[in-house]
Amino acid sequence: MKIIVVKDDKQGGQAACELFKKELEQKNDAVFGLATGSTPISTYEALVHSNLDFNNSISVNLDEYVGLSSDHPQSYNYYMQEHLFRYKPFRESYLPNGGATDEEREISRYNAILEKNPIDLQLLGIGRNGHIGFNEPGTDFDLKTHKVELTESTIAANARFFNNSQDVPRYAYSMGIGSILKSKKIILEAFGNSKAEAIKNMIEGPVTQECPASVLQRHPNVTVILDEEAAQKL
Ligand code: GLP
Repeated sequence: MKIIVVKDDKQGGQAACELFKKELEQKNDAVFGLATGSTPISTYEALVHSNLDFNNSISVNLDEYVGLSSDHPQSYNYYMQEHLFRYKPFRESYLPNGGATDEEREISRYNAILEKNPIDLQLLGIGRNGHIGFNEPGTDFDLKTHKVELTESTIAANARFFNNSQDVPRYAYSMGIGSILKSKKIILEAFGNSKAEAIKNMIEGPVTQECPASVLQRHPNVTVILDEEAAQKL
């Protein structure tokens, strides 16, 4: 893993933006795997303020809450529109549909999208318990897209985006770790104290389902972008 330590999330976003730029220079129809949460916001800001053009590119997002339709303000579909797509449209953009009535069909649809559009560069955040996407501790490393029951700690961490924790959906669709590992390149970003333990386990701990992100030790092309707080336990 290549580790880049930056001063703050703004610099981290710029560093990630440079990697997006490089990817586009090599392949202007690249497939980008995108993430949500507070961590990638500075990356999307940097992309929005850049002169990069994604009109020939494809985006595929990691996850979505089950039960939230794409126009729900807390859905990840809505988040992506607000933070990126309204400023930088892609040729095609895919997210799981949280409002789908047939869950099995939705999972198959998303896996078919991933088969057809192999990801060139995947952006990831990390949960405080080491989850990536919504792959919580204990998740099988071979899974493709699946429906996940969120842990109490993830529900509590994400409650800040909702009126109260009762409103946080209990389930999500997530790309599996098997799908994430197929990406040719991966960028994982983490900022702040609350991520320091997960980062230590991911980089220095054993590869174990208890810290899903530790599986990235097996991937040949991972760049980790950290601020000093997230890097403090390394
Ligand atoms: C959610 C998302 C993850 C994200 C994580 C951390 O669980 N599904 O993709 O990495 O939260 O979020 P944040 O960046 O807000 O700390």
